[in-house]
Amino acid sequence: MGLINIINLPVLGDDRGRLIALEGSKSVPFEIKRVYYVFDTRKGIARGFHAHKALKQLAVCVAGSCRFVLDNGLEKEDVILDTPLKGLIIDKMIWHEMHDFSDDCVLMVLADEVYDEDDYIRNYENFIGIINV
Ligand code: TYD
Repeated sequence: MGLINIINLPVLGDDRGRLIALEGSKSVPFEIKRVYYVFDTRKGIARGFHAHKALKQLAVCVAGSCRFVLDNGLEKEDVILDTPLKGLIIDKMIWHEMHDFSDDCVLMVLADEVYDEDDYIRNYENFIGIINV
């Protein structure tokens, strides 16, 4: 499988509009323990620049757009998220960066664990060192 793993989210639409419900271990392939969202990102700002030792996440751009860079230490790929219909899996040990946030971007992230700073690898050289062990 390539670096970019996109999930099509199930839409419950009717003539009033569209609705997407995300349930752990169903439309989302893990139990959801945490949800956070990034918004009001300032112009030219990039975020992320870390990998997680164990955390698995699903990122959904519910409004606007942004660009992800995913990097497994061997290869790097870009993907633009610009629809609430698709989610991007961010697996453990994937260096990720978010760029090009639109003014209206709301990036929602579902995670399989609560926040734990010890799970972060925030230094790229350390990340590459761990990958190459
Ligand atoms: P960080 O993960 O560095 O943001 P990004 O990856 O988008 O650049 O998080 C920013 C700050 O928020 C940092 O001090 C940690 C804190 N934080 C929490 O307290 N809980 C959370 O669930 C997340 C994601 C971050």
